[in-house]
Amino acid sequence: MEKKGSKRQAVLDALTGQGLSREAMARVAELTGVPEADVYGVGTFYTLLAEPGPRVCQGLSCKLAGGDALAEKLEAKGTVHRVSCLGQCDRAPVSLGENNRLDVAGPRGGISPDNPGLVMNLAGEDDPSYPALAWARKMGGEAVIDELEASGLQGRGGAGFPAHIKWRAVRAEAEPTKYVVCNADEGEPGTFKDREIMLRRPQLMLEALAIAAFVTGCEAIYIYVRGEFPEETDALKAALAKGGLEDFEFRFIEGHGAYICGEETALIESIEGRRGMPRLKPPYPTQQGLWGKPTLMNNVETLACVPDILLRGGARFLALGKTEPGTKLYCLSGHVNNPGVYELPLGASLNELVAAGGGFVGTPLAFSPGGASSGVLPMSLADEPLDFKSLAAHGSMLGSAGVVVLNDTVDMAWVAQVQAVFFEDESCGQCAPCRIGARLVRQALDRYLQSGNPDNLEHIEELAWEMTEGSICGLGMVAAEPAVTARRHFSDHFGVRP
Ligand SMILES: Cc1cc2nc3c(=O)[nH]c(=O)nc-3n(C[C@H](O)[C@H](O)[C@H](O)COP(=O)(O)O)c2cc1C
Ligand code: SF4
Repeated sequence: MEKKGSKRQAVLDALTGQGLSREAMARVAELTGVPEADVYGVGTFYTLLAEPGPRVCQGLSCKLAGGDALAEKLEAKGTVHRVSCLGQCDRAPVSLGENNRLDVAGPRGGISPDNPGLVMNLAGEDDPSYPALAWARKMGGEAVIDELEASGLQGRGGAGFPAHIKWRAVRAEAEPTKYVVCNADEGEPGTFKDREIMLRRPQLMLEALAIAAFVTGCEAIYIYVRGEFPEETDALKAALAKGGLEDFEFRFIEGHGAYICGEETALIESIEGRRGMPRLKPPYPTQQGLWGKPTLMNNVETLACVPDILLRGGARFLALGKTEPGTKLYCLSGHVNNPGVYELPLGASLNELVAAGGGFVGTPLAFSPGGASSGVLPMSLADEPLDFKSLAAHGSMLGSAGVVVLNDTVDMAWVAQVQAVFFEDESCGQCAPCRIGARLVRQALDRYLQSGNPDNLEHIEELAWEMTEGSICGLGMVAAEPAVTARRHFSDHFGVRP
């Protein structure tokens, strides 16, 4: 944990509250020996450093719930930054005040009722004795990975990559210095499940990290939590302070308001103190990750599944799924009665999820199954499994399972434009197809919304192809998807405007 009086803390103190003032940059340069120009170059990448102060969310769910009106109201009182997504879609519309704490927000979203049969069971209680870690030590590293393989656990951070392959790869590396990293940067609009795990079941994640370090022989554990989640960081630190994991070295790193830092190699760059720009792969983090050493990186939810898999067996976990292994935390927001995080068998349909979330508000028209990156789908697919394979077959993705429901009061061209603004704002800018393409998509939608002339959109598919083929990372590859899928499924929203 961050020691009071450490150099890192002194740097954070120098920046806190004043942003990148000349004095702050000079102080950081003095403390670190990094040239002032580099301090400026890195610092300006991170909006929480460069633009301190209140922030109001402009994610799709917040906009649906009156995010623009809230922004205008707050702007009338003073400076407020309009930002991409604050990870509070169930409490929309929201704003953050001092120290990134929630200022305006609705009541807490729903969760599934207490059910010990579930894997994460958000309504349940942590077991402070860390029984899965003790069991892992008895089983030994190889047997733990075999159990993960038997469970079929797929990564919950977006790509669905089998967890056991990464664990085995890092364990097999001969290099004596290795790291485990927990990706808690959760920034995809529509997604807020990792937030609930950290707040409600922090020990599940901490225990899994300790198991991962034991199994792979890693010397330190990094937890990278987005800076807009101070309450979640507090919950993790409080859980650690209760004791039981003293054999492991946990290091907390705060994100500073850059969505792209959720991409694994950008996150590594960020921990190393640079702008969070994704690296070319290979080499993969399992081979050369943090500080060039083999690194196991997993999402919060992926990790939180591990204790249950070890204690109750991989076969049980596998069988819990409907179409793919395990249960899944689905985030639900938009036009539904009880937005929240619901744990359902992986492969549950939209209709089943919305039934858990209290039903639709109004007449449903469309849904986005996995955050902004997944584009939009029509209600004719509301009984299809929300899983990795089925959604890919429909040209979409489960991603981080941030499900946003849209009813028939919504203009799908407007939805595409809101998501296009997000990708343009969050592109790190290092590859031209993404940097320029994201801007062109947004401009085309702006022009269409202003003029009603569909000719403005005729090059969107071509642009999308260029972006998919020419981008280094997933952001550029999907940035045109909301526009492409909205046009594909809702062509009646893209005709000539009156
Ligand atoms: C633009 C972009 C943003 C991402 N954001 C996140 C994130 O916030 N949290 C996360 O766990 N994974 C995120 N990922 C996926 C990570 O790169 C990586 O696949 C994941 O952390 C691996 O963990 P898993 O195997 O447990 O899913 C993102 C990927 C991309 C391309
Ligand atoms: S695709 Fe976009 S976000 Fe990803 S590395 Fe390239 S410019 Fe950065």
